Amino acid sequence: MGIPSFSFSMHLVLLSILTSLSLTSEAAQYRYHFCSNQTTFSPNSTYQSNLNNLLSFLNANSARETDFYNTTVGQTQTPENTVYGLFLCRGDLATIECQDCVSTSTKEIVQLYCPEEKEAVIWYDECMLRYSNRSFFSIMEDEPSKILWNFLDITEPDSLLQLTLGDLVPVAANASSGAKKFATKETKFMESETLYNLVQCTPDLSSFDCRRCLWGAITNLSNSYGGKRGGRVLYPSCNIRYEVFSFYHIQAQAVAAPPKGKGKISTAIAIVIAVTIAAAVVLVILLYCFRRRKASKKSNSINQVNSGISDGVLNYHAASEVTTLESLQFDFGTIEAATNKFSDDNMIGEGGFGKVYKGVLHEGKEVAVKRFSMKSSQGLEEFKNEVILIAKLQHKNLVRLLGCGIEREEKLLVYEFMPNKSLDIFIFDPRRRSQLDWKTFYNIISGIARGLLYLHEDSRLKIIHRDLKPSNVLLDHDMVAKISDFGMARIFCENQNIAKTKRVVGTYGYMAPEYAMAGVFSVKSDVFSFGVMLLEIISGKRNSGFYLTEHAQTLLAYAWRLWCEDKVLEVVDNFLMESCWTSEIVRCIHIGLLCVQENPQDRPTMSNVVALLGSESIALPKPKHPAFSVDKFIQIDKFSINEASISSMVPR
Ligand SMILES: *[C@@H]1O[C@H](CO)[C@@H](O)[C@H](O)[C@H]1NC(C)=O
Ligand SMILES: *[C@@H]1O[C@H](CO)[C@@H](O)[C@H](O)[C@H]1NC(C)=O
Ligand SMILES: *[C@@H]1O[C@H](CO)[C@@H](O)[C@H](O)[C@H]1NC(C)=O
Ligand SMILES: *[C@@H]1O[C@H](CO)[C@@H](O)[C@H](O)[C@H]1NC(C)=O
Ligand SMILES: *[C@@H]1O[C@H](CO)[C@@H](O)[C@H](O)[C@H]1NC(C)=O
Ligand SMILES: *[C@@H]1O[C@H](CO)[C@@H](O)[C@H](O)[C@H]1NC(C)=O
Repeated sequence: MGIPSFSFSMHLVLLSILTSLSLTSEAAQYRYHFCSNQTTFSPNSTYQSNLNNLLSFLNANSARETDFYNTTVGQTQTPENTVYGLFLCRGDLATIECQDCVSTSTKEIVQLYCPEEKEAVIWYDECMLRYSNRSFFSIMEDEPSKILWNFLDITEPDSLLQLTLGDLVPVAANASSGAKKFATKETKFMESETLYNLVQCTPDLSSFDCRRCLWGAITNLSNSYGGKRGGRVLYPSCNIRYEVFSFYHIQAQAVAAPPKGKGKISTAIAIVIAVTIAAAVVLVILLYCFRRRKASKKSNSINQVNSGISDGVLNYHAASEVTTLESLQFDFGTIEAATNKFSDDNMIGEGGFGKVYKGVLHEGKEVAVKRFSMKSSQGLEEFKNEVILIAKLQHKNLVRLLGCGIEREEKLLVYEFMPNKSLDIFIFDPRRRSQLDWKTFYNIISGIARGLLYLHEDSRLKIIHRDLKPSNVLLDHDMVAKISDFGMARIFCENQNIAKTKRVVGTYGYMAPEYAMAGVFSVKSDVFSFGVMLLEIISGKRNSGFYLTEHAQTLLAYAWRLWCEDKVLEVVDNFLMESCWTSEIVRCIHIGLLCVQENPQDRPTMSNVVALLGSESIALPKPKHPAFSVDKFIQIDKFSINEASISSMVPR
């Protein structure tokens, strides 16, 4: 009797949560700035107040439907205090996206980068902001300039680049006066790859100057081209960029618009939705915890909760899942078309539950589609669990679910596409490793830590991932780490700390001993997996595939031995040793060893880990003996490899 209304409310819950995912715009991405310390103003001067006015004018005008605006403040008063300024947004952005970037840039430039400089320019992925005490409107300037490269290599002739970017120059330059001087183009190369190209001038330039500026940039890019997967030239008057992933919105060509209207959502609606979500999430937790309490009363052992995949969250959602999943659907035909009918050419990954395909939607957005194999009943459970869980989560370091598709036997999940695939591909391949540096590794480690902290403590649910490993950490085009694959994850109630299962799932080499042996899991079993990953990232070696040549069975045993012998730097991959960050690296190894200690109580929580990673000044406790040989337990019949490697599929 209660079921219809319950299912209706769940429907709303998930619908509003998923809608909210598509509403959030990403924060503007800072790229570079320049301000000369030769020309500064003093605090509280007229120049400063003029500058502040200028910035708020620019800000206000970004709300109008324009991607470019120039203005002057203080001209009628004292000429020496006049400030000239402009902003330019990338030509494909919606007004709201442009507004976000201008708002960020006007704040950050004075707060973070150029607090007292009269003349400054700052570039983000989405916009450029510039001001000066001299009039620079309609003047072509290619200084200061910056070339930025994607750090990954590509094997592709630079002539393709020059040709494509060159093609765009007349398109942008010949635009009628007052119109955007902006052009993009996609070029196919090497069978399945696409090169995305963009050029843009500030529209105050003449056609002639725009052409001159763009050709200068293209020449400069070609002269220093070193076979990188992406690159850009930033000039004050124009900029160019190419990548092998889509970094701009491609104009839709008379095809059905995306399901949800984007941009231009009023704050009122946003607030209503936010409130709905907050209420809905609370409802979910209350209902869930209520059920749990009832269930655990029946159970003899308090710890024996959540045993088996059919218990807990899945049961709880069973009444509502059909309506829910249907209402979140991407049209099946759309996904089929996007992935070229699931052609093998589009396949980018494969695992126990099915295959992962790359897809391109009508509007050019790249997505990863996880297709669950038709027969696997386990696949269905995984599927429901993943949709319901991930729909509630939102964090920079978690992969974003865009929607799902379900039609008869077919089950599909649609994610944002991650051009750099997964972490295992980078850390275990010496050639790719050497393209990265310690700073990138460090950012990946702290990204994973922050994503995990969000799961454990900061989201309104307490979630244990249970299958953390490098192939479940995806990397976006900036190498930002995003945790994925929530097929094994479990929700805990606020006051629940530990659970036990008869069915141990996870991956050999990353499972904490108490989990592998006794099925007991908690936040501390995720911390263990994190510690293993951390040591793998630093050493470039797999914990499980470790060779006996080092007189140790596992990477953990090896690291511990070196630690005790005071030679811990030998764990570190040679190429990282060449960087001058050894103290930071040693600190990371130390934190890794704390995470893999045998006794779960000794391991730090993820909030401890984030704090320790973030500060050099917090003293680290001495690690105790780690749990080395999970492989010993695996050899006990009960934990066969089948169970132990149950999830190896990732959306890529
Ligand atoms: C300006 O910056 C340069 C280079 O960063 C520095 O050497 C110089 O001391 C700075 N001058 C002033 C006045 O701050
Ligand atoms: C600038 O003005 C603010 C607020 O009026 C004041 O607190 C501050 O001390 C002033 N700074 C200087 C350097 O005069
Ligand atoms: C904007 O720039 C144009 C030149 O491109 C100039 O004529 C105009 O005065 C500028 N507008 C303002 C408000 O400064
Ligand atoms: C801008 O400021 C600098 C230093 O404060 C000054 O030397 C220069 O003449 C100013 N430029 C103009 C056009 O007023
Ligand atoms: C090309 O780029 C370099 C480095 O950014 C810069 O020094 C040089 O002036 C640029 N050349 C041209 C023609 O823009
Ligand atoms: C752009 O303008 C230039 C010079 O006016 C002309 O030679 C060229 O053909 C034009 N290109 C296009 C695509 O209109």
